Amino acid sequence: MKEPIISPSLLSADFANLKADLESINCSGADWLHIDIMDGVFVPNISFGFPVLKYVAQLSEKPLDVHLMIVQPEKFINEVKALGAMMMNVHYEACPHLHRVIQQIKDAGMKAGVTLNPATPVSLLADIIADVDMVLLMSVNPGFGGQKFIPHTLDKIRELRALIERTGSHALIEVDGGVNEETAKALVEAGADILVAGSYVFGAADRKEAVRQLKQA
Ligand code: DX5
Ligand code: ZN
Repeated sequence: MKEPIISPSLLSADFANLKADLESINCSGADWLHIDIMDGVFVPNISFGFPVLKYVAQLSEKPLDVHLMIVQPEKFINEVKALGAMMMNVHYEACPHLHRVIQQIKDAGMKAGVTLNPATPVSLLADIIADVDMVLLMSVNPGFGGQKFIPHTLDKIRELRALIERTGSHALIEVDGGVNEETAKALVEAGADILVAGSYVFGAADRKEAVRQLKQA
C-alpha cells in the first residue's frame, strides 16, 4: 500500500505555544500543514485569519494546504497566495461559479482543490474533476476538530477513485475529520492519498510518532 501524505491540522494546535507546536511539525515526517479558515457563516465556528497566519507561514517549513470554510472564498485568493500557500481548497457548496474560482486559483499560481461536505455527492464533480488538483472529502461536518469519523466517507472515496480513473483526472484524494490510526488504515485501503489529522497529531505527546503511525497505517 502506498504511504499517505500527512497534513496535520493547525486547528488543534496550542495557540499559546504556537511556535513550539509548529517546530514539532517541522521536525516530524509530516508532508504538509493543513490550515482551516472559518467565517462563522459557512460553518458555525470562527478559527483564525490572515494576521495570525502571516506568522504561521513564516514559521512553517511545510507546504501550506489551506482549507477555506467560508462563503465567497474567491475574495481571498490574493491573501492566500500572499501566505505562499501551495494549495487552496474551496467548498463546492460555497461556490456557485466553481469553474471560474478554480481557474482563478490556478492563475494565481496555486494548486486548486474542491471540498465536499459529507452530504454532497461525489457525482456532482463530474464536470470539474478534470480541472482540479485535489478533492477534499469531509469525513465530519466542517467547523470543529475532534469529531467522530463518518464511515460513509469510505464509499465516497471508492466512488471518487472510480471517477478519477474513468476521466483520466490527476486529482488527489484528501480526507479530513476523525482521522486516527484506525480510520487511517481504512481510508488508505479505500484509496485516499492524503490524510488530514488535527486532534490525533496535536493531542499526541510525541507528534513525530503520531505522524509515523498514520503513515504506516
Ligand atoms: C474541521 C476541519 C478539520 C479539523 C480536523 O472542520 O476542517 O481540518 O481540524 O480535526 P480532527 O482531525 O480532530 O477531526
Ligand atoms: Zn480542514
